[in-house]
Amino acid sequence: MSKVAVTGAAGFIGSHVCRALVAAGYDVVGVDNFDPFYPRRIKEAAISELKRARGFALVECDVADVEVLQRAIAGSDVVIHLAGRPGVRDSIVAPEFHSRLNAGGTLCALEAARKEGVQRFVFASSSSVYGNAVDYLFREDETAAEAISPYGASKRTAELLCDIYSALHGIAIASLRLFSVYGPGLRPDLAIQKFSRAIDSGEPLFQYGSGDSQRDYTFVSDVVRGVLAAVGWTENRSAGHEIFNLGTSRPIALSYLIRLLGDLFGRTPIIEVVAEQPGDVRRTCADIIKSKQILGYDPHVTIEEGLPLFLEWFREQNGYTKNVAC
Ligand SMILES: NC(=O)c1ccc[n+]([C@@H]2O[C@H](COP(=O)([O-])OP(=O)(O)OC[C@H]3O[C@@H](n4cnc5c(N)ncnc54)[C@H](O)[C@@H]3O)[C@@H](O)[C@H]2O)c1
Repeated sequence: MSKVAVTGAAGFIGSHVCRALVAAGYDVVGVDNFDPFYPRRIKEAAISELKRARGFALVECDVADVEVLQRAIAGSDVVIHLAGRPGVRDSIVAPEFHSRLNAGGTLCALEAARKEGVQRFVFASSSSVYGNAVDYLFREDETAAEAISPYGASKRTAELLCDIYSALHGIAIASLRLFSVYGPGLRPDLAIQKFSRAIDSGEPLFQYGSGDSQRDYTFVSDVVRGVLAAVGWTENRSAGHEIFNLGTSRPIALSYLIRLLGDLFGRTPIIEVVAEQPGDVRRTCADIIKSKQILGYDPHVTIEEGLPLFLEWFREQNGYTKNVAC
């Protein structure tokens, strides 16, 4: 049976990836340091069932501790590196964390993989590397790729480190540029969570800008399938580093997202319009032709289908009876 190491296992995306791997019969070792970016209890809840599952073990450690990480990933066929500090706005307030945890953390994970002889690596990069790209669709070979936040820059730096480790050490690496992932277990700092809390409690929500900014929201199960496809892709390669977009090519306007959430809650959102935030891009939209062709990636959950699934989870967290409308 294949053994897979997943860093950031207790996080939003990591916990979904680990569940899918365990369900697919992989032996999984999850690594997480329960970084205080958001409360530990949320991460504990995300992996509570996993911790009881056969085929899953959790090692609590910082990826920067390369020796401990090496012991954790020993014997793994592939490392899926999801640990990092997300958040564009946070990166402007605390850029040092983003450089250390995203660029530095990826270097540590690559180094641990090299030292343990793990020849396959999958890395969670971000659509933020594109900045305000001019083309409508963001392509992986986009020459104008220019991050406009420390977060985007830290992910681009990590991609370059992947280039180097692949070339120098013959590791097969897939970097996945994730586009606004959402779904059950969503991080509390993200817009869909913040808007939902505000609408639910009848408080005003803050809309940054006029509402015409757009995001390519991608449902977490589609992303998980993309991650597993990338794991499969590394298996058939002896080396090389490829970048893949995991988005949908269907960007959603902010005003439409808020309206949809209001409809789902059965309430009219109270909207307070505030200035656009520095570091926020105007639009994201993934070109997924390469991911489709090479990985067989095929996202199919629309925002109209995915938001109710998020909301079902949100309501469970907030003490609602399942499926009972507000
Ligand atoms: N959620 C998105 O929309 C999105 C979009 C693009 C990229 N990404 C990237 O995907 C990855 C997962 O994102 P997420 O939304 O699940 O975030 P998350 O914060 O929920 O998960 C990250 C996990 O990594 C852990 N972690 C952080 N630093 C660590 C360290 N030094 N050592 C060990 N563990 C550490 C955290 O405790 C957390 O559990 C991140 O690298 C993020 O940058 C996410």
